[in-house]
Amino acid sequence: TSPAESNSNASEGIEPAVPLRSKKWFNDPHDLGLTVPELSPINKPIIGIAQTGSDLAPCNRYHVELAKRVRDGIIAAGGTPLEFPCHPIQETGKRPTASLDRNLSYLSLVEVLFGYPLDGVVLLTGCDKTTPALLMAAATVNIPAIAMNVGPMLNGYSGRKLIGSGGVVWESRAQLAAGEITEAEFLHNVAFAGHCNTIGTASTMNAMAEALGMALPGSASIPAVYRERGACAYATGLRIVQLVREDVKPSDIMTKQAFENAIACCAAIGGSTNAPIHLNAIAKHVGVELDCDDWERVGYKLPLILNVQPAGQWLCEEYHRAGGLPAIVAELLEHKALPHPDALTVSGKSIGDNCLGDLSQDRRVIVPFDDPLVAEAGFLHLKGSLFNSGIMKTSVISKAFREQYLSNPNDPMAFEGPVAVFDGPEDYHHRIEKSPHIGPGTILIMRGAGPVGYPGAAEVVNMIPPGELIKKGIELPCIGDGRQSGTSGSPSILNASPEAATGGMLGYLKDGDKVRIDLLKRTADVLLSAEEIEERKREVGLYQFPKSQTPWQEIYRGSVSELSEGMVIKSAVKYQRLAQTQGI
Ligand code: FES
Ligand code: MG
Repeated sequence: TSPAESNSNASEGIEPAVPLRSKKWFNDPHDLGLTVPELSPINKPIIGIAQTGSDLAPCNRYHVELAKRVRDGIIAAGGTPLEFPCHPIQETGKRPTASLDRNLSYLSLVEVLFGYPLDGVVLLTGCDKTTPALLMAAATVNIPAIAMNVGPMLNGYSGRKLIGSGGVVWESRAQLAAGEITEAEFLHNVAFAGHCNTIGTASTMNAMAEALGMALPGSASIPAVYRERGACAYATGLRIVQLVREDVKPSDIMTKQAFENAIACCAAIGGSTNAPIHLNAIAKHVGVELDCDDWERVGYKLPLILNVQPAGQWLCEEYHRAGGLPAIVAELLEHKALPHPDALTVSGKSIGDNCLGDLSQDRRVIVPFDDPLVAEAGFLHLKGSLFNSGIMKTSVISKAFREQYLSNPNDPMAFEGPVAVFDGPEDYHHRIEKSPHIGPGTILIMRGAGPVGYPGAAEVVNMIPPGELIKKGIELPCIGDGRQSGTSGSPSILNASPEAATGGMLGYLKDGDKVRIDLLKRTADVLLSAEEIEERKREVGLYQFPKSQTPWQEIYRGSVSELSEGMVIKSAVKYQRLAQTQGI
């Protein structure tokens, strides 16, 4: 039965599995916390709706409408909905970075979930950082929770050509640099309600929420404006009331097994390089050990089977009609490639039971497992004297890149070259066209772009070569301690940890130093001896970054962990399962 059918007789008299948490707030003559009579009937769960949509957050704005359907579902199931705002995080609008606010939104939601009489919560997710922020908070407080995505926007077109949000920006920037379009043409763009419609970070993170088991099966990919999206909002409202009655908590769902399933799905869809950062963070808050070695171990060998931009051709509308994540999971199940089919989900069933047999009917978009777009599509985890941890998304390595850098018959998976070093995106934009030492084979280094250096870590590692080289079709490898937009198709080496600002080697590099990358050995090294490195560190000193502009930037810089560690607030990790352990 669907959640809608199984809830049709819901009433407020149903006995929950454990006493409702919210009742401790009400009708206590010694502690008149709240005495609103309509909120306090026995056995009527109070459900928060964590609203991330607002005028400042247009990707999630449609949630303002969808929340009404969530409310209807909650009421129909016998609960009481209480909607409240979350700190806005708009990927494209927030300066210096939207990811600076992920931990701020997390912190404030922890306080709301912990401090108010909520028995469960619906997490309204969508734009890149909103999804991890809300899942991290639900993990920390550990009250029953269910995520619901706002949904991707509809297809965009330029003439008859499909253009994906986000991705179109990278393409147009290259065209602008090569003089093929004007600035006015560059600024002309298309947008609908919903989040980005490529497999950027938004689509990836919502697929991850579903793969983890935290969203209803098939829900993540429903386009924002489809009628189905409203029905999904209603079903989500119904289901959260049941989750409260059954006392199913995030820690029951987000187990190590669930994270391994998510990693497998991330490889299969060609997911964003931001996924390891955010999933490692969610894992930390729910008390699961997860690191970038797990990402390579579970994900690297799996094939890319989703033909959607940036790794493929289509957009999320086709992805949804081709079956969405359940069809991806079904394909993995069919080939025994989903690590843990028995992992529980918010539907009340396992992910295997949810998806078995849901194979795609549209093989243009979801291709067969044994005839994939890329055979090994997960992330490589690189280590060496350049950094302890860096990620490379191999599914987007282009033919041109392979020919230019990975075609030496004696050494086909390695390349080396002199570096050109940039101190943050402003320095790069200022100097890229005025640097005669940059030629074919130069490795571009972006530093000062990590969580501390450019607070929140900027999405700037995918750097475009000088216009002269672009015209000749030359790509340059990029390495950096920042992040990269999930909508970018660049095979950069990114998320380098430790970052320059906390003493990472990138901070001590000079133009012309040689760097060697070996994808077979998974190494990233600067070709200096240990003595030369020590000498260089003494000579150059710790990397200096610009001073903080706001109080939060300063607090953030003093509290944040490296990208490889999930960029979490270090002191927050010890606060786990608050609803169970703090005796409210
Ligand atoms: Fe918000 Fe892409 S910018 S989803
Ligand atoms: Mg982004």
